[in-house]
Amino acid sequence: MKRYGFLWMIAILLIGTMAACSDNSSSSSDGGSGGEGKIELFSWWTAGGESEGLQALMDQFKEEHPDIEIENAAVAGGGGSNAKAVLANRMQGGDPPSTFQVHGGDELLAGWVAADKMQPLNDLYEKNNWKEVFPQELIDMVSKDGNIYAVPVDVHRGNVVFYNKSVFEENNIEPPKDWNEFLEVAEELKSNGITPLALGDKNVWPSTMVFESILQANLGAEDYNKLWNGEIPMDDERVVKSAEMFKKVLGYVNEDHSARAWQDGSQLVADGKAAMNIMGDWANGYYKSKDLKPGEDYGWFASPGTEGEFQVITDTFGLPKGVENPEQVKEFLTVLGSKKGQDAFNPKKGSIPARTDTDMSKYGKYSTDTIKDFKNAKLTPSLAHGSAAPEQVVTKVNQAVNVFVTQQKVDQFIESLKQSVSSLK
Ligand code: GAL
Repeated sequence: MKRYGFLWMIAILLIGTMAACSDNSSSSSDGGSGGEGKIELFSWWTAGGESEGLQALMDQFKEEHPDIEIENAAVAGGGGSNAKAVLANRMQGGDPPSTFQVHGGDELLAGWVAADKMQPLNDLYEKNNWKEVFPQELIDMVSKDGNIYAVPVDVHRGNVVFYNKSVFEENNIEPPKDWNEFLEVAEELKSNGITPLALGDKNVWPSTMVFESILQANLGAEDYNKLWNGEIPMDDERVVKSAEMFKKVLGYVNEDHSARAWQDGSQLVADGKAAMNIMGDWANGYYKSKDLKPGEDYGWFASPGTEGEFQVITDTFGLPKGVENPEQVKEFLTVLGSKKGQDAFNPKKGSIPARTDTDMSKYGKYSTDTIKDFKNAKLTPSLAHGSAAPEQVVTKVNQAVNVFVTQQKVDQFIESLKQSVSSLK
C-alpha cells in the first residue's frame, strides 16, 4: 500500500499541475492571446499628470487582459528629450519596443513609416469601426498611401497660456489679447516684483513653443502652416518680427530657466512665483496631479493672437515590425483606442480624447472648453512636438532657438532657421 500510496501522491501532484496549466490556457482561450511574452510600453510619461494617465491606461488594459503582462518602459525627459534617442538606438538595432509613443504627423510618417519600420493597422481600424470615431484630421496624421500606422490616444493643444488666478486678480491683470498687450502686462508684473513668464527650457523645446506661439500669431494659421512646406521662407518679414518679439519676451522669464525642466517652469505658476506659463496642456494634467483646481487656482487662454486656432499635438502608438507578439500588441492598441481606454487616460493626462464619442462627464472644465475649440478652430501642426516637420528639422530648429535664447542675435537666428528648413523645399 505504501508503494501505491507514494504513486498516488505523484499522480495527484501531476493532475494538479496539469489543471493549473489548463486554467492558464483557458484564460487565453477566451479571446486573449496571452502567455507568449509581455508588452513593453515605451513612452516618456513620468511627470505629474503623465504618469497618472499612463497608469490608468495600464490598469484598464490589465482589467481587460489579466493574462497579458504589460511593462511600463518609460524613459524620463519631457518632450521625449531622452526617450527619442533611446528609441532610435533600439529601432536601428532591431530591438523595437512592443509599442512606443510617437507624434502623429512627420515624426511618425517621415520617420518610422518612411524607414519601413511600422505595420499597417487598417484591419484594427475596420474591426473597431474607428473611422467613425476618430476625426479625419487625426487619421490623416497617422496615414500614408492608404495605410494607417498608429492609434491616436489624445489631442493636446500647444498654443496655451496657463496663469495663476490669484496673481492676476491681485495685480488687476486681464489676459493679453496680443503680444504688445503681453509686453505691457509683463512690464507691470515685473515692476510689482513678479516673474511674468515661467520658462523651464532645460530641454530647449519649451522655448521653441514660445517662439512658435509668436510665429503663429504673426502669420496666422494658414501662413504658419506654409512655413513647414517651404511656401513661405524663414526670412519672411513676419518671421523676423517674431524673432524680435521673442527677444523682448525673453526679457520677462525666470533667470534660472535653463536649469528647469518643463514641469519646474509650470510649478512656478502653481506656487504663485510666476504669473504665466506657455505650455502644452499636459500642464493641465500636471496642475490637476498637484490638486490644483482648473478655473479656481489656474486659468488659461489661447496664446496671444491665436484665438480660434488650435496647435495640434497628438500622441499615438503603433505596431513596430519584428515584435515577438503582434497579436498581444494589437490587444493593447484596441484598449488604447477604446472609449474606456481613452476615458481612463485623458482626464488624468490633461488632454482631450482622440475619439469624438467619449463620456464627457469624466472631463473637467478645461477639457470640455478645449473639445469645443478643437471642433471649431483652425488647426495647425506643432513643430516642437513632431507634427509640422521631420525630426531632423525639429532638432535643427531647437538648436537655433537654443543659441538665440543665450545670444539673442536676430540675424544669426534667421539664418539658422533658413538652414534648418532648407530640406523642406
Ligand atoms: C509632448 C507629449 C506630451 C507630453 C509632453 C511633455 O511631446 O506629446 O504627451 O508628454 O511632451 O513631456
